[in-house]
Amino acid sequence: MTPRSIIIDTDPGQDDALAILLALAAPELDVIAITTVAGNVPQPLVTINSLGLVALADREDIPVYRGCERPLLRTLVTAEYVHGPTGVDGATLPVNSVGVAEGHAVDHIISVCLDAPAASVTLCPLGPLTNIGMAIAKEPSIIPKIREIVWMGGAFDEPGNTTPAAEFNAYVDPHAAHIVFTSGIPVTVFPLDVTHKALMLPRHVEALADYGTAPAVAAAGMIRFYEVYDIDKYDLPGAPLHDPCVIAYLIDESLFSGQQHHVVVDTTNEETIGRTTESTGTAPNATVMTEIDAERFFDLVTTRIGNL
Ligand code: RIB
Ligand code: CA
Repeated sequence: MTPRSIIIDTDPGQDDALAILLALAAPELDVIAITTVAGNVPQPLVTINSLGLVALADREDIPVYRGCERPLLRTLVTAEYVHGPTGVDGATLPVNSVGVAEGHAVDHIISVCLDAPAASVTLCPLGPLTNIGMAIAKEPSIIPKIREIVWMGGAFDEPGNTTPAAEFNAYVDPHAAHIVFTSGIPVTVFPLDVTHKALMLPRHVEALADYGTAPAVAAAGMIRFYEVYDIDKYDLPGAPLHDPCVIAYLIDESLFSGQQHHVVVDTTNEETIGRTTESTGTAPNATVMTEIDAERFFDLVTTRIGNL
């Protein structure tokens, strides 16, 4: 079976890190590039972290392109309170001997799509949608080249995690999210409604650490740091593993289920900006995932990263 061509757009972040490691461990996927976006932590940290992750996976052949430094309109909001000052606290990532690829991430996304056959490129944004929104705005002719945008973001029946109304990735750049959801590109969304059901329990973390490999030990160390915030805030037995849901879906769609809706992003009201809602009476523009087979998901995550 031909591996699916994907670009991972990311703001590592420990959960981004496990998503990237899972993707690099998946023969089902061909990661043609990693593009970075300011989010959990600013540039250049998200780029440095992405470079370190491909080095950790011994995949320095995968180019890492530096992307936007801030949202399209709003001031950048970051989340060191969750991820720590480096963004990947809990692990020390190796130095990448190749270094960042030349050119801007947005231009690389455009270039890859323009050179690709119709509906052949899958974009996997794991952070604010700034790079994706800018690429669509700069070069709308890429739209028919994109097979699907699979995004971790938004919150529907769940409260937000950044404001009561908004999830972080949608809150940071709601205007870019608006561009994506009005582009006509098929969008599959992994909101908090489903990622809050993907809680990485201590036994999952121990199972990962027990592999003893550098990627597995680093991944377990990152989760042990990252989980403190959510466990304390929500009084949970484990931390939600948000971003790996995107990659796990691409590996095995049967892990998830959801419904098609017309998704709207609030870009106007300061109280609710970044809120994602499902509006009725309009043709669907997205599949919104709500259910997960959590045990099979964690089996996949731990065994694949453990054997990377
Ligand atoms: O709200 C969770 C999302 O925001 C995740 O992608 C996390 O990495 C942060 O980017
Ligand atoms: Ca992220």
